[in-house]
Amino acid sequence: MEDRKGSEFKKFCHKNILAILGFSSIMAVVALIAVGMSQHRPLPENVKYGIVLDAGSSHTSLYIYKWPAEKENDTGVVHQLEECKVKGLGISKYAQKVDEIKTYLAACMERSREVVPISQHQETPVYLGATAGMRLLRDESETVADKILDMVSKTLDEYPFDFQGARIITGQEEGAYGWITINYLMGNFPQKSSWYGLVSHEEEKQTYGALDLGGASTQITFVPPSNETIESPDNSLQFRLYGRDYNVYTHSFLCYGKDQALLQKLAKDIEDTSNGILKDPCFHPGYERVVNISDLYKTPCTKRFEKTLPFHQFQIQGVGDYQRCHESIQELFNTSNCPYSQCAFNGVFLPSLQGHFGAFSAFYFVMNFLNLTSGSSSEQAMKTMVNFCSRPWEEIKTSFVGVKEKYLSEYCFSGTYILTLLLKGYNFTPSSWKNIDFMGKKLPGRLSKSSMVNINRQLTLGIVEVVPVFPPVLNFCILKLI
Ligand SMILES: *[C@@H]1O[C@H](CO)[C@@H](O)[C@H](O)[C@H]1NC(C)=O
Ligand SMILES: *[C@@H]1O[C@H](CO)[C@@H](O)[C@H](O)[C@H]1NC(C)=O
Ligand SMILES: *[C@@H]1O[C@H](CO)[C@@H](O)[C@H](O)[C@H]1NC(C)=O
Ligand SMILES: *[C@@H]1O[C@H](CO)[C@@H](O)[C@H](O)[C@H]1NC(C)=O
Ligand SMILES: *[C@@H]1O[C@H](CO)[C@@H](O)[C@H](O)[C@H]1NC(C)=O
Repeated sequence: MEDRKGSEFKKFCHKNILAILGFSSIMAVVALIAVGMSQHRPLPENVKYGIVLDAGSSHTSLYIYKWPAEKENDTGVVHQLEECKVKGLGISKYAQKVDEIKTYLAACMERSREVVPISQHQETPVYLGATAGMRLLRDESETVADKILDMVSKTLDEYPFDFQGARIITGQEEGAYGWITINYLMGNFPQKSSWYGLVSHEEEKQTYGALDLGGASTQITFVPPSNETIESPDNSLQFRLYGRDYNVYTHSFLCYGKDQALLQKLAKDIEDTSNGILKDPCFHPGYERVVNISDLYKTPCTKRFEKTLPFHQFQIQGVGDYQRCHESIQELFNTSNCPYSQCAFNGVFLPSLQGHFGAFSAFYFVMNFLNLTSGSSSEQAMKTMVNFCSRPWEEIKTSFVGVKEKYLSEYCFSGTYILTLLLKGYNFTPSSWKNIDFMGKKLPGRLSKSSMVNINRQLTLGIVEVVPVFPPVLNFCILKLI
């Protein structure tokens, strides 16, 4: 049971997004988070609000949106008013302590109470969408996942807002929305600018592919070359936008987000030790960390490496060797068996890469920390990683004071993982690497039409304007409706 009040909610969103975007039924799944308005009800105020909670594997963020209630010449703009980061871990970590969920959500929900005028509370929709962290938990135990969603629902329902539902979104939905958002932001759809009463007849633009990296999963989504077919139906998305049909490939690799990939690597490597010491090339020389075997084996992602070990804990001792780290990570990608004409890894179909790609979320955060976002070649990125990983932990700590040790210690692994995933998992080459743009708070200037602060460009969607939020994980269907 994924849905909580899901069907009404979907109906609501479907109706509108279908009308507006002309989505085919296959993509109706994209219509998830409705922060819409009804055209039939007279509105007491000129402004409407909506609240979306994005429950990622490592943390939850709450977004508050605002848009004009009365359409002006059939257009309206949705603005992000505020982002509130929920203190603590992702909701999936609350399996053993569901009672704490109330307190966990309280600060950001109270903030919403302040931001949204009291007179608007009852009409302000609230929606929570959870991603791969909850997908994993559900794989382990549907009961436990439901218990968390029930408590989340109960909690959110206690606020004066119009609670619309809390559900786990699918990997396809995640991939699809990332792709749509990137391409709106880049102005790659033949958008009609009803704002100025103009219809631009630009020639067909190539769309961008979308590369998304989270803690628990990673998504790749793009339009394959026209002479190739999408050989597996699960990887095929079809939709119609602005009168044009798009056939898009997408896949979400569960367990291949950066945090779960690290757990996989540790579980694989610890198999070969007997003394409870893991000399690990993916951590800086001099770095040490104690890891509980029980924590390592808790996630379904490490099941295939599970083995009875003569110790309950082990110690990571950093060695700082990029090349060996890269080789160790490569073993997580099984390329021995492909039931299609071509594959990424683990027998998953992947068409030939084509065109430009936007890489966001952790792809951006990690590469930005490593100064590798502005046009570095894959060779330069590799050189940087060789140097960075070999630097002693003590030196790293003094160079980057103020960065949490847990995060700081994992950039060597994460950077190496990104290179390995892109080059060995997704089959990018030093040549096609040049087509990857690491996109974060701002899109590359040459591509953006106007200055964008936090990528809040107002987008024209026919008669609707949307401001997708970046990263675009969960902001489906944030629309001002006709
Ligand atoms: C809406 O249309 C009216 C009349 O055509 C015009 O005066 C007004 O400026 C328009 N408003 C916007 C926001 O474009
Ligand atoms: C598609 O066309 C490209 C060249 O345009 C060619 O290299 C490739 O082999 C073709 N793929 C298929 C599956 O025919
Ligand atoms: C490992 O487990 C012990 C008790 O089982 C706990 O006290 C300790 O905090 C855990 N260590 C880590 C690193 O999670
Ligand atoms: C890779 O996958 C194949 C087929 O699923 C399996 O037989 C093989 O054991 C796997 N290899 C590794 C190293 O996991
Ligand atoms: C990135 O560049 C900044 C500014 O030049 C520098 O201070 C920082 O140390 C660099 N980061 C890394 C990981 O090398």
